[in-house]
Amino acid sequence: MGKVVITYGTFDLLHVGHVRLLRRLKALGDTLIVGVSTDAFNAQKGKASIYPFEERREIIKSISFVDKVIPEETWDQKASDVKEYGVDILAMGDDWAGKFDTLSSDVEIVYLPRTEGISTTDIRTVISRVEEDKLLALECAIDQVSRLAKKLR
Ligand code: CTP
Repeated sequence: MGKVVITYGTFDLLHVGHVRLLRRLKALGDTLIVGVSTDAFNAQKGKASIYPFEERREIIKSISFVDKVIPEETWDQKASDVKEYGVDILAMGDDWAGKFDTLSSDVEIVYLPRTEGISTTDIRTVISRVEEDKLLALECAIDQVSRLAKKLR
């Protein structure tokens, strides 16, 4: 196994920020384990992903520098995962800076800088704008048809 690195996240609508983070995490050691948040855990956090857990897991598993995927089901599992998998480094993007320092007596904690300018939230915003644009175009079309229908009466 060599040096074992673990990280956690939802990884919805996979983007280059995720891929770059995972590549940098793998470079910190020999084995990279990714805890992918389950849908039930996300619901607990007040989040709902577009892709369901099984698809997010399948996508993360297919990345060549990811060695193992486990479900992330609770906040507390990190300490037991560290023991179970013999983890040397627990690493996250720096939006989590300081959040896992309580585990630092058992495992090295590393926070890596995020890739600027991209996030799942950004992608969701763009998608919902597209949906709004489509709705607006549809409303316009309905309006035109109904005006035409009135003229034909
Ligand atoms: N991450 C990153 N660079 C980005 C986006 C995410 O390094 N541009 C990292 C996060 O810091 C985290 C991991 O990828 O360690 C998984 O993050 P996740 O919350 O799933 O992705 P986000 O794009 O941040 O999603 P959201 O916008 O819903 O918070």
